[in-house]
Amino acid sequence: MSADYQVIDDVAVITLNNPPVNGLGLATRTAAVEGLNRAAADPAVKAIVITGAGKAFSGGADIREFNSPKALTEPTLHTLIRTVENSEKPVVAAIHTVCMGGGLELALGANYRVALPGAQIALPEVKLGLLPGAGGTQRLPRVLGLETALNMIVTGTPVLSEKLAGTLLFDELLPAGSDLVAGAIAFARRVADVRPLPKVRERQVDHPDAAGFLAAARARVKAEAGPFPAPVECVETVAASVEKPFEDGLTFERERFIHLTQTTESKALRHAFFAERAASKVPDVPSDTPVREIRSAAVVGAGTMGGGIAMNFANAGIPVTILETKQDALDKGLATIRKNYENTVRKGKLAADKAEQRVGLIRGTLDYADIAQADIVIEAVFEDMGVKETVFRQLDATMKPGAILASNTSTLDLNRIAALTSRPQDVIGLHFFSPANVMKLLEIVRGAETGKDVLATALALAKKIKKTGVVAGVCDGFIGNRMVEQYIRQAGFLLDEGALPQQVDAAIEKFGFAMGPFRMGDLAGNDVGWYIRKRRAVESPDVKYSKTADLLCEQGRFGQKTGAGWYDYQAGDRTPRPSPWVDEMIVKHSHDLGINRRAISDEEIVERLVYALVNEGARILEEGIALRASDIDMVYLSGYGFPLFRGGPMFYADTVGLPAVLAAVEKYARGYHGEAWAPAPLLVRLAGAGKTFNG
Ligand code: NAI
Repeated sequence: MSADYQVIDDVAVITLNNPPVNGLGLATRTAAVEGLNRAAADPAVKAIVITGAGKAFSGGADIREFNSPKALTEPTLHTLIRTVENSEKPVVAAIHTVCMGGGLELALGANYRVALPGAQIALPEVKLGLLPGAGGTQRLPRVLGLETALNMIVTGTPVLSEKLAGTLLFDELLPAGSDLVAGAIAFARRVADVRPLPKVRERQVDHPDAAGFLAAARARVKAEAGPFPAPVECVETVAASVEKPFEDGLTFERERFIHLTQTTESKALRHAFFAERAASKVPDVPSDTPVREIRSAAVVGAGTMGGGIAMNFANAGIPVTILETKQDALDKGLATIRKNYENTVRKGKLAADKAEQRVGLIRGTLDYADIAQADIVIEAVFEDMGVKETVFRQLDATMKPGAILASNTSTLDLNRIAALTSRPQDVIGLHFFSPANVMKLLEIVRGAETGKDVLATALALAKKIKKTGVVAGVCDGFIGNRMVEQYIRQAGFLLDEGALPQQVDAAIEKFGFAMGPFRMGDLAGNDVGWYIRKRRAVESPDVKYSKTADLLCEQGRFGQKTGAGWYDYQAGDRTPRPSPWVDEMIVKHSHDLGINRRAISDEEIVERLVYALVNEGARILEEGIALRASDIDMVYLSGYGFPLFRGGPMFYADTVGLPAVLAAVEKYARGYHGEAWAPAPLLVRLAGAGKTFNG
């Protein structure tokens, strides 16, 4: 049973019952239609109330049915809504808590709607690159008017029911805290004999100048939609509610909906939606794995990362203590945190008293005894095994039993760090991205001995501090940085061969990346990579890099922080300006290498940067460092500015077609530093078998 049926005196009450949000899956739709038919056939029933059990009226389509034939199996959502709308007895939708997507479309099919305040009302389909496909674009404007309906449909943003009081959407808004079903039954009795039955479809869309409004909306939405087609299609279908008769509008909506389901952009958005959910699942760590309680936290190191990490805990209401070795470093770190909060308040994004509360949750100390009782400690000291060793030995000696010992290391071997302690099962990597209080991505690094409960706790913590947690195995660079290394190597080789930084950045930014590799280097600090390359030159001398980045750093051009990097910067201005010195240095370097510089197309730039990610991603997948291709996509979407409308590197490769990707990889393997392009065995196998990364 996924909808309950009950008759209270002369009113039938159909209660959608499909936890968690009464998604309108096949079983729920079937039971609802059965209930409507039963009520129609029962002479004792005068009116029908439809409501939802638990925490929602209905959240809309059942996401478990996405991409499954079940969504199209009768009774479809259309059939359910038509059954409601064609009922000869009045139907009252009793709305509470959540009424979204197909749930709202169902309610719009009813003759009347009664709601509680605080209900979230939305048609969020646009967020998945779609439009409401079950009459929402035709019915909502008929009750809310053109402007409000268009805004809701184009943005997908929820609006609270009380904000819509007085519109034709609700026939009655009950007082907060009242009994919704009792109120809806009372309402149903009052209107039981009213004929003809009011129907949303029979209303006209109100607007004094619909044509003028729509022309302006078309222009505005087109300009704002960027690469996504859905917002523009939303406007066109809403326009049809004015410009076409109802049935024609419905047909048009259906047609545009089906068109959108087939666009790469919508597929990418839906992929990202499911990828985010999948990322929190680890096959051998079931969802009922016990978790450790995190009521207090500690951070070691108050530098760039430590401060941001501490803010995450404070933002989630968890008290956090930061430990430093020297008072001045501690004072500086705490002052930076305070300044960050002050900036957020100044921008109007946080109330001053809330900021004060959060600052109040952050304490500083120089003494390990002050952090010994924390439930979790995250180390964010210098990226140096010797320094990490000192810290982890101290933590092992002082932290209470059961405390989680986490490291924010970007490249060091977590298993070695764990082995420095007597409790490797409590050690895990929590790799935040800079700025740590802003970036969504959190790589959760599972060591060989990390306890399952520690991993489950880290996944739950990621949610609590509003991060996208993705589990990675231990290797140099984990998922994100290991892949970006190949991307940055290619960017360097492109300079040697004939490109300039501004051309590379422009090409990849046109592809959709938030920032090209050279602008990114200037922002993050070119010295970071310099340091890593120096270490790698000792550890793996066979791995080749363009020398241009070293020549840059030898001049102290570390990026924005030194006022010069790949680009020149003017004081107080982050605008990158192409640097004649850098261009000359690059050209001279090619000359020194004996390379005849050639014109490089934007297409080649994009292929080399993106396929370098894909080829390394395939290795990471095959080695089990990432659990699934969609996890890699999540890392790149949430941590590296990969364009969302392309769905992440692995999804993008799937849309290009793996044989074409492999052919390009093989072509580059015959070119400059072709050794960087050895095709990943998994890519070869999948391409040969006609398969994709994302299955
Ligand atoms: P940072 O140099 O800004 O800060 C390190 C802080 O640790 C300094 O304030 C220093 O005084 C303190 N410290 C050093 N030894 C200590 C000890 N024994 N006890 C207590 N405090 C000590 O470095 P940053 O950038 O914050 O990096 C920290 C860690 O985070 C490194 O492992 C790094 O690889 C990692 N990381 C850095 C990212 C970045 O973008 N900066 C991104 C992700 C991870």
